[in-house]
Amino acid sequence: ALIERGEYDHFMLKEIHEQPESIARSIMPYVDQVAGTLDIGTVATASFTAADRAVAIACGTAYYAAFTAKYWFEQAARLSFETDIASEFRYRQPVLPQSGPALFVSQSGETADTLAALRYCRQNGTTAVAIVNVPESSIAREAGAVVPTHAGPEIGVASTKAFTAQLSVLAVMALAAARARGHLLPGDEVKAVKNLLALPRKVTEALESQEQIAEIAKTLTQANDVLFLGRGRYYPLALEGALKLKEVSYIHAEGYAAGELKHGPIALIEKDLPVVVVAPKDELFEKTISNVEEVRARGAKVILISDDAGIAMAGNRADHVIRLPDGDNFTLPILAAIPLQLLAYHVAVAKGTDVDQPRNLAKSVTVE
Ligand code: G6P
Repeated sequence: ALIERGEYDHFMLKEIHEQPESIARSIMPYVDQVAGTLDIGTVATASFTAADRAVAIACGTAYYAAFTAKYWFEQAARLSFETDIASEFRYRQPVLPQSGPALFVSQSGETADTLAALRYCRQNGTTAVAIVNVPESSIAREAGAVVPTHAGPEIGVASTKAFTAQLSVLAVMALAAARARGHLLPGDEVKAVKNLLALPRKVTEALESQEQIAEIAKTLTQANDVLFLGRGRYYPLALEGALKLKEVSYIHAEGYAAGELKHGPIALIEKDLPVVVVAPKDELFEKTISNVEEVRARGAKVILISDDAGIAMAGNRADHVIRLPDGDNFTLPILAAIPLQLLAYHVAVAKGTDVDQPRNLAKSVTVE
């Protein structure tokens, strides 16, 4: 079927705005709404129950979804969770979990390196669980279990709605694994499910910042470099925010763990360097805010992405503030993706780049 842009100037913008529906579609198959419980299927669930360790392999934006899941699986399910990019993993004869699964995250299900990594795991007897958006793809066909995302077809080369669909399914998976491993009280599962079910509405709310973000984007068009900082579960979001900006605006951007600032990137801070800080209020918030003070004291322009609680605590320490709706440790990282996508998009539009078909990039990398 022909997919059209409709009222939108670009597929990327259309896909950003589809996220309330694509996230809902990706969560609903795994939710029992009456009981308030989650179910990811017997094979996937069983693979986590007695797991010693799990690995998650992907490329590009899908890798950052997997990396976010590491924080969820370790904290909620108490499962050692290693992530790697497929092109590294596949060639180093990695040591596989003895009793745990290998997860493969891919929009297309056709990325050559991810598929090769999957074959390596299967040859070594590891249960391969695929989180894919294309159910008839090679990765889906060759995996031992498929837990699909339902983002719908994604046309923009820079991934947006597929990313949040992957995060949504991985959040569900981490919670299901937590329950299977005896680390999730029934009451907490019901609460987490409630927050997941509220997520589409919260995403709609996050999208309402678009005009404000378009204004902030204008301040970035002349930048040569942009730094993205985050800690803990927001560190992978900082990496994804930097990747998105690079891909569509061609501005050099780097994502860094805020705690590593002192070990290098602080040398780059000079007057007017834009620094995007992804930091909803959590147990690490004050540490991140002290990083904000450090870069600001050196003249950086800080764009803070946070929730009401964080914004209140940050006071006047940021130059721009982008507000996120409230959420929990699973939904806030997903919500944080929205302003990062909108920022990259609007910088690209302001610069006049080819947003949907950035130079040199391919939607699916099926050769090495
Ligand atoms: C390419 C695309 C990215 C994508 C990556 C992984 O680089 O441009 O948007 O994240 O491949 O693709 P996959 O289909 O495996 O998720």
